[in-house]
Amino acid sequence: MRFTGKTAVVTGAARGIGRATALKFAMEGAQVVALDINTEELSRLKDELEKYTKEILCLECDISNEERVNEVAKETLERFKKVDILVNNAAIWKYHCAFADVPTDMWKKFFDINVMGTMYVTKAFLGNMVENGYGRIINVSSVAGVYGLNSMAPYSASKAAVIAMTKSLAKEVVKKGVLVNCVSPGSVSPGENLDYNSYVESSLPFIGRTGTDMENANLICFLASDEASYISGQNIQIDGCRKTM
Ligand SMILES: NC(=O)c1ccc[n+]([C@@H]2O[C@H](COP(=O)([O-])OP(=O)(O)OC[C@H]3O[C@@H](n4cnc5c(N)ncnc54)[C@H](O)[C@@H]3O)[C@@H](O)[C@H]2O)c1
Repeated sequence: MRFTGKTAVVTGAARGIGRATALKFAMEGAQVVALDINTEELSRLKDELEKYTKEILCLECDISNEERVNEVAKETLERFKKVDILVNNAAIWKYHCAFADVPTDMWKKFFDINVMGTMYVTKAFLGNMVENGYGRIINVSSVAGVYGLNSMAPYSASKAAVIAMTKSLAKEVVKKGVLVNCVSPGSVSPGENLDYNSYVESSLPFIGRTGTDMENANLICFLASDEASYISGQNIQIDGCRKTM
């Protein structure tokens, strides 16, 4: 059990990659803190997590609300005393629009959630990690942040910011025992699907199919584990050899 005694916080844990990651941490012995805005799906996740551990905290949290993020961090530290692993997975992404038609408010929404939200949660837990001389932060970006996807400018720009934030913070805290990395998925199986091993055909990657939620969770959990003790400041693409058009 790779995560026995470790506390892992996962944002956007109610579904998709976040759900698979929270479940994998629980299966491998971690105390799991699952955060999401979707309370209905969060309560379903709680039932699933309880099959593996009672050491869980499932809390409603909009990551773009700094005050709420700080409350949640306080509650987490009161319950588990420390945080070892943070997976910044929550984001919005399903929005395609020609650049000229994207309203300013939509740009702000993408940055408030995907960039500022990631920053608020990181800031809320980083101090504890530095104090303990141990931490693993894994940010979930996207191939959109590397290549810039057609008609997805706000999303692509927000995910590029997450990659840059990762690389900058990694340099600052690596000597303090905190490793910071990023994973960038390509296309993943539809998040509504509760089978975390499901995939569909896709012509976007050379492999010819989407990635599964669990394949992404596997990479995230590897980076969260002590097997990845010499990796920091990296963005690792998990995209089935994506065609970069
Ligand atoms: N699915 C893909 O094809 C794909 C591809 C590349 C990158 N990604 C990235 O992977 C991550 C997870 O994607 P997914 O497909 O599993 O997404 P999803 O939409 O299935 O799940 C995202 C979760 O985040 C939650 N969430 C959204 N806004 C939130 C907020 N403000 N505060 C807290 N929680 C919030 C949602 O309620 C949901 O449970 C995201 O960062 C996404 O950008 C996904």
